[in-house]
Amino acid sequence: MKKKKILVTGAAGFIGSKICAKLVENNYSVIGCDDFSSGSKKNITKKTKFIKIDLSKKKRISNLPKKIDYIFHLAGQSSGEKSFDDPLDDLDRNFKTTYNLINYAKKNSIKNFFYASSMSVYGNTTNKAKIKDYCKPLSYYGLHKKLSEDYILKNSNNFNYIIFRMFNVYGPGQDLLNQRQGMVSIYLSNLLKRNKIIVKGSTERFRDFIYIDDVVDIWIEALKNKKMNNKIINLGTGQKTKIMQILQFLRKIHFKKSKVIIKNNTPGDQFGIFADKSIFDLTKKKKFIGIKKGIEKFYYWAKKSS
Ligand SMILES: NC(=O)c1ccc[n+]([C@@H]2O[C@H](COP(=O)([O-])OP(=O)(O)OC[C@H]3O[C@@H](n4cnc5c(N)ncnc54)[C@H](O)[C@@H]3O)[C@@H](O)[C@H]2O)c1
Repeated sequence: MKKKKILVTGAAGFIGSKICAKLVENNYSVIGCDDFSSGSKKNITKKTKFIKIDLSKKKRISNLPKKIDYIFHLAGQSSGEKSFDDPLDDLDRNFKTTYNLINYAKKNSIKNFFYASSMSVYGNTTNKAKIKDYCKPLSYYGLHKKLSEDYILKNSNNFNYIIFRMFNVYGPGQDLLNQRQGMVSIYLSNLLKRNKIIVKGSTERFRDFIYIDDVVDIWIEALKNKKMNNKIINLGTGQKTKIMQILQFLRKIHFKKSKVIIKNNTPGDQFGIFADKSIFDLTKKKKFIGIKKGIEKFYYWAKKSS
């Protein structure tokens, strides 16, 4: 049988690169693309074709191959905090890329579009987030992700779609030098470098932390699991974890004396959010990697690679 062809945008980034590797392992034909604005060449998976492209530039899109079975759109600017530095740059990366890719998909009759959205679209919901909840994003990042979602829905009579509202993804492969995205990775790199963790905001805040391997498994399963088709999906574990607990787990495993310094919140920060458990009605997976185990795996990976 002919291999299915998948275009993965953001292929040099954290999640995109892990998805590419798993797709190759599962015998799909993969074309990655990225502009290296935050991604790195070392992340590009062997045995994939690769195109360097800024997807916000409409004219460049015609350089992409035409015969594609699926688009996995993960390219974007991934920090809520950073989206306040230059909201228009965020609009380009998080919306214009989607706009251009949707129009390219329509023009070339590409029938499947999977999108990396975020829990940031919800804004503040101190209870578990449900797909039907009213969305009121607090950051430009969340706003532009929501705009992308709406544009996909507006055009969804042309293709099958899945919109994954991913919660806090963490784990090996995350960029430990990036101090503006990824709570666990920021705290972990602070700890390893200086025995001192800087927390921006209250330790009472809470999130839903999901391990990278679980995220990758769900994206791959979605290729074959028809139940996920044409849905917006909360991609979280359904577990609420306080920042305080993350600090405890990290400091315990680190085994050296360490300090925690609390500073002011970053702009657009949500106080607390976690996913409902609706993912378990859709996936064949029975459970996700627990936060304690996940942090342990991430810690040893980071220690080895730093
Ligand atoms: N990491 C998380 O916890 C999380 C949670 C929810 C949603 N997401 C979304 O998932 C996607 C992947 O996240 P990540 O953590 O791997 O981030 P990442 O920064 O590691 O990857 C994003 C990639 O997109 C590329 N990119 C940015 N603008 C581009 C453009 N105009 N053209 C082509 N490539 C461009 C970057 O160079 C980078 O390699 C992002 O869209 C992010 O917003 C991430």
